[in-house]
Amino acid sequence: MSSYVTKKTPGNTAWFTHDRFGMFIHWGLYAMAARHEWVKSNECMTEAQYQRYFKFFDPDLYEPRKWAAMARAAGMKYAVMTAKHHDGFCMFDSAYTDYKCTNTPAGRDLLREYVEAFRAEGLKVGFYYSLLDWHHPDFTIDMLHPRRKDPQARQLNQGRDMKRYSAYMRDQVRELLTNYGTIDILWFDFSYSENQFGEPWMKGKGKQDWESEKLIALARELQPEIIIDNRAEIDQDLWTPEQYQPKSWVKHPETGELVTWEACQTFSGSWGYYRDEMSWKSPEMLIRMLIETVSLGGNLLMNVGPTARGYFDHRACKALEVYGQWMAYNSRSIYGCTMAEPEFKAPADCRFTQSQDGSRLYVHLFSYPYAYLKLPGLAGKVEYAQFLEDGSELTFTEGMVEHFSLGATRQEDLLVINLPAVKPQSLVPVIELFLK
Ligand code: GLC
Repeated sequence: MSSYVTKKTPGNTAWFTHDRFGMFIHWGLYAMAARHEWVKSNECMTEAQYQRYFKFFDPDLYEPRKWAAMARAAGMKYAVMTAKHHDGFCMFDSAYTDYKCTNTPAGRDLLREYVEAFRAEGLKVGFYYSLLDWHHPDFTIDMLHPRRKDPQARQLNQGRDMKRYSAYMRDQVRELLTNYGTIDILWFDFSYSENQFGEPWMKGKGKQDWESEKLIALARELQPEIIIDNRAEIDQDLWTPEQYQPKSWVKHPETGELVTWEACQTFSGSWGYYRDEMSWKSPEMLIRMLIETVSLGGNLLMNVGPTARGYFDHRACKALEVYGQWMAYNSRSIYGCTMAEPEFKAPADCRFTQSQDGSRLYVHLFSYPYAYLKLPGLAGKVEYAQFLEDGSELTFTEGMVEHFSLGATRQEDLLVINLPAVKPQSLVPVIELFLK
């Protein structure tokens, strides 16, 4: 059994730390602008300017069953989709606002179709819910708000009442966790009470403003097992490094305990569909991010930003296929795996994962070594070795490299795997070691 113990949390993370790989979906009106999900704030748009997206939002090619099938083929086991992003637009049929997809040409509850399709595909289902809301009339203008540069910004705040806004959030969370069956993850985003720039009255917002205690109590009451992230500024189940790959297992900042964590990452930098973005990650990088994350005990939530018409664009499809091709043969080193026990130290250019029951160690070859892979500390501990992708045996020696050359390595604790000269086809080959 894995010896790593993480901080106890209120929700049920057992399935989550087994499944390891999920799909984030950022979809909303901003897909039409196709230049970042923050476009309303980045370009300081007025309500009237942003309204054109509401007026013309018509995802006529939306077929969430296709999304779900692609997620599953990529090896993803769960998904988290934006129910509401910072622009305040609701992708579900809320009774508490008119600013929702049912009132656009889309004319239907898009979130419900997502839930049904992903569930039917056997995936767990989560909602992202923005704590920020740049549309709601009670949400006060602050340093991130699209109206922050208005000469009248401060006056515009008169009469705005964050208490009413936080009640609105509770109403919507109640809807989301009542009307759609079991929801596995609730992903709040985000708090910025410590970020301070601009005028003092523009200060950021956090748990006081959201009334996070009440919000979370409500979510737990409705769905006790649900996994909640920590972005409402109250520790819950999940720590969420964003577009950042930690170099060690994420620890609780105060207590130093290991925590349950999930890195969220993008294919190209932005979360919403960004037509002209040129910074798409390479196939190697995509695979390495997943491996690296699991090798440090974490999950990876990889984002897709669907187009305004409701399909995944060709670059996203290609990226998902990269995962699919690798996972089809190598997922055993990901599912049910975690960071290898401290006694196992991966050599340069390798990453280890270990099955949570402790019986198998997986060696991921980030660069392919010539003929011999030398694993210090593993002599005497391995019963059988094979390439994971085709189950082909890999012979090994212990204590020394078996080679006629003078000066071939000898080292007592060394396990030496004999490798074919040519790298097998997987982007990152994996060696599966059955431990004694
Ligand atoms: C950030 C961004 C947001 C994105 C989120 C995903 O907080 O504000 O656009 O949804 O990260 O982690």
